[in-house]
Amino acid sequence: MNILDKSFENYITRDEIQSQVKRVAEELNQDLQEQDVVFLAVLNGSFMFASDLMKNIRLESEISFIKLGSYSGTKSTGVVDEFIGLTIDLANKTVVIVEDIVDTGKTLEKIMKMLEDSRAKSIKLCTLLFKPDAFKGDFHPDYIGFSIPNAFVVGYGLDYNEKGRNLDAIYQIKD
Ligand code: IMP
Ligand code: MG
Repeated sequence: MNILDKSFENYITRDEIQSQVKRVAEELNQDLQEQDVVFLAVLNGSFMFASDLMKNIRLESEISFIKLGSYSGTKSTGVVDEFIGLTIDLANKTVVIVEDIVDTGKTLEKIMKMLEDSRAKSIKLCTLLFKPDAFKGDFHPDYIGFSIPNAFVVGYGLDYNEKGRNLDAIYQIKD
């Protein structure tokens, strides 16, 4: 399969994604009972994960969105820009950050900074994909769909230069 100038191969199927999304949602349903939960999904990448995750959440909860970006092509630029900031009050809420992927952890650091003065009761991090070998951050994900090696992937919300987000499975770059 090709996107722009790169070739990709099958990596995680639609069914495997859906079953791990259900498993993560179940963990959240169990852990966050009786709490005032706000899911905070990070655009653009997490839109599909957030959508499927929320369909399996039975907590009486809210969802809101922030928009950040740091990638250009297949490499992180290391600089995280904020395009849409926090638009709701998180005071006394249990906030669950919903990410498509945690790579270096830079984006997460930026989000934690944004939430510093929010007076949230607690902050949890939920990510579909985690690259432990690339991770250099202080905030480790609490809920992880898949831990994957340090190779570039697309699909299910993740892009290569904005293309490929629509794919319902995940594909890994061929080198
Ligand atoms: P971090 O700030 O280095 O943790 O990178 C997080 C962001 O980089 C993610 O939210 C994605 O948008 C992007 N990213 C990291 N790895 C990949 C990948 O393998 N494919 C597509 N996007 C990625
Ligand atoms: Mg992202």
